[in-house]
Amino acid sequence: VKPETVSLCPLNMAAAPEQTPLCIFGTGDLGFSLGRRLLQSGYRVVYGSRRPHSCGPLPPGTQVMSHGAAAQSANLVFICIHRENYGFLETLLPELRGKVLVDVSNNLKKNQYPEANAEYLQRLVPGAHVVKGFNTLSAWALQNGPSDANRQVYLCGNSAEAKQTVAETATKLGFTVLDRGSLSAARELEDFPLQLFPEWRMPLRLAVGLTAFFFFYLLIRDVIYAYVEQQKDISFRIMVSLANKVFPIVSLIMLSLCYLPGVIAALLQLYRGTKYKRFPDWLDRWMLCRKQLGLVALAFASLHVLYTLLIPIRYYVRYKVAASTISQIKENRTSEFDTAIAWRTDSYYSVGILGFGLYLLLGITSLPSVSNALSWREFSFIQSKLGYVTLLFCTLHTYLYGWNKFLRPSTYKWYTPPGYMLSLIVPTVVLVVKLLLLLPCVDRTLTRIRQGWERTDPE
Ligand code: HEM
Repeated sequence: VKPETVSLCPLNMAAAPEQTPLCIFGTGDLGFSLGRRLLQSGYRVVYGSRRPHSCGPLPPGTQVMSHGAAAQSANLVFICIHRENYGFLETLLPELRGKVLVDVSNNLKKNQYPEANAEYLQRLVPGAHVVKGFNTLSAWALQNGPSDANRQVYLCGNSAEAKQTVAETATKLGFTVLDRGSLSAARELEDFPLQLFPEWRMPLRLAVGLTAFFFFYLLIRDVIYAYVEQQKDISFRIMVSLANKVFPIVSLIMLSLCYLPGVIAALLQLYRGTKYKRFPDWLDRWMLCRKQLGLVALAFASLHVLYTLLIPIRYYVRYKVAASTISQIKENRTSEFDTAIAWRTDSYYSVGILGFGLYLLLGITSLPSVSNALSWREFSFIQSKLGYVTLLFCTLHTYLYGWNKFLRPSTYKWYTPPGYMLSLIVPTVVLVVKLLLLLPCVDRTLTRIRQGWERTDPE
């Protein structure tokens, strides 16, 4: 083997006894799990350790040697040690020459060091071929094998041949490999594990913002208004009544915000008459977090349903029912049965239940394990067509709940509309625009634009 070249171990020899072993520097959690996984996949594994005779437990079937001896016996070395300890690698330059070094390290925070760990490693050992990879996997994922959330291995490095070697090993371990380019992408890969639910950030911020806004809006309109205008303390309503207004209101707005970008995109395409032009960045980003928006909205709708179950057992409600019954007995009168009220309440309950049922269906089908089992057509049928029907039912539920209160001046305390009326604005706009888009002449044009794009796009 020429010192500069990368010598590959043929995959079909992986299980052969004379095969070249893979080397792991570092006997911590990650090194241990990686070694076990490699062993299970048929590789021979050699550990490099500062203290080969007292380095703690290692997977049975592996060997442990000094760093120098271990590096010499292998062509591929996984560096499972902290960046702060990389310094000693400079003493192994001859042994590491021409070898593929896989940097699996991560940092505790972004921009902790001026250069990426993998670039630093390459600078320390210029004769080796450094590949950044496996750093997005946890020791747990390595030990248990790939799962849905942990299937992808990102790689980057300057030597295509070295990357190929690492990619083959990752594939053999059952992971899917994604090549992110040269070693200059290492910093980006090292930042991946530090991101905390990046695609959930916007939906969660929106949920918190809307909840805070509607909480204070309704606090002023319901509780403070009663205190100021009628000298009544109804602050106890904060716990259930107010919560059971804020949650469904936020849920309905967020559900409609899942469908708003779709209709904006359609309007843009109609306006531009083409599908070739890129959507603005904000619209792209908005479209990409629709699933998270929908799931947060579903969580809020579920809270509304749970709070609604509570209504009959509330002390306040039972007290009001008893008081009304007693006063009717005292006054020797019976209140008339109002069919209109029966229709109204039954209708909005029923439509709410149907809406919630479809809402659950949307949530379940957006989970990766379920959506992976659906074809693209089935997925888009549920998420798009049934999605609009869900929005329609939930909106109708709220209109029916409002019934004739929309026209009653006493509803508008301090000239402000109730929260649910505000929550109807976006869903109504989305549904009306969607209805216009479904008009045959508009729909035909839109389909033509979309088909035109599909016909000519090389992908
Ligand atoms: C209000 C029941 C699902 C949105 C109400 C109310 C009830 C109710 C009883 C009146 C609450 C009160 O008097 O304070 C149900 C039932 C559902 C359901 C039984 C399904 C099992 C939904 C869903 C949405 C929704 C899926 C959509 C996100 C609303 C809204 C209000 C409301 C916006 C008005 C809140 C306010 O008083 O300001 N619902 N609902 N509901 N519901 Fe539902």
